[in-house]
Amino acid sequence: MSPKIEELKQNALRELEAVVGLKELESWRVRYLGRKGELTMILRGLAELPPEERKVIGAPVNVAKANLEDSFKQKEQSLREAQLATLAEGKAIDITLPGRPFPIGRLHPITQTLHEICDIFVSMGFQVVEGPEVEWNYYNFEALNIPNEHPARDTMSTSWVDFETEGDDRPMLLRTHTTSVSARIIETMSPPIRVVAPGKVYRYEASDATHTPMFYQLDGLAVDKGITMADLKGTLYEFARRFFGEDRKVRFRCDYFPFVEPGVEMAIECLVCSGSGCRLCGNSGWIEILGAGMTHPQVLQCGGIDPEVYTSFAFGMGIERLPMLRYGINDIRLFYGSDLRFLRQF
Ligand code: DAH
Repeated sequence: MSPKIEELKQNALRELEAVVGLKELESWRVRYLGRKGELTMILRGLAELPPEERKVIGAPVNVAKANLEDSFKQKEQSLREAQLATLAEGKAIDITLPGRPFPIGRLHPITQTLHEICDIFVSMGFQVVEGPEVEWNYYNFEALNIPNEHPARDTMSTSWVDFETEGDDRPMLLRTHTTSVSARIIETMSPPIRVVAPGKVYRYEASDATHTPMFYQLDGLAVDKGITMADLKGTLYEFARRFFGEDRKVRFRCDYFPFVEPGVEMAIECLVCSGSGCRLCGNSGWIEILGAGMTHPQVLQCGGIDPEVYTSFAFGMGIERLPMLRYGINDIRLFYGSDLRFLRQF
């Protein structure tokens, strides 16, 4: 190796040995191995020499460069290790111990279902709204065309809140359906309205395989000029197709709810027997999944919307039933038993 290059290499190595920090190491690298470093410059200068000299001078320069690169890598590693060790000493962390795994949870199957349903309606232009679980008698019943002595109140065993007004009235309750949110929306928003309201509802009932005193519902409401039953059917049909599958048949039949006229129930073709009749569908071939109808003019009027100008459709469904049908779950209480062996399956 030519004496000049040998000298350069020795100098570089001596300096490298004296380096104590990573910053300093970086300036060393720039100086000797960088694009404008001394060795690089020599290598570049070779281009101007005649070919035979190029080889004679070039080879030792390349060897020296490779040598310095190796030494640089070694130095870098030892500096990094030293840095980690001082850090560990000062802060008393044991860097040899692997971290404990952080358990990642998941969304509850009911929450997952609600997200899925809301996504479907949002994609059709609906907005997600929420209302209070402790509700006024007014929004839960009266504004929905269910006055105090109405027999429809008997169908929803109500948990009244222990709060009396001066007139011995108990005007507060745990809402028995999310339709109370629609009553609030009719009062506060102006048409065009497209909303879905998911949430918890409460009924004063004992638990069994198909009942819990708390469960989830989702109500939908559309108010606009010229809304008809065809819009209702089209929207709900599209929902059923997306949630239960492309070929799922649906059936609408008359039903009664005080806040709609006409009222309907929607059923889907049984998921187990596809309509031929089985235990799940009680041999009918159909499974009821929701109530719906054209919002009663009285209800619109009550919330300050003119039923002569606007028409509206509404629907409401229980949530638990949907994953129960889809996954063949036969006891609603499983959702609220906090048993991880059940919940981890979703
Ligand atoms: N609120 C009703 C219930 O809990 C369900 C329902 C039926 C809601 C018809 C609606 C509707 O919005 O139009 O049984």
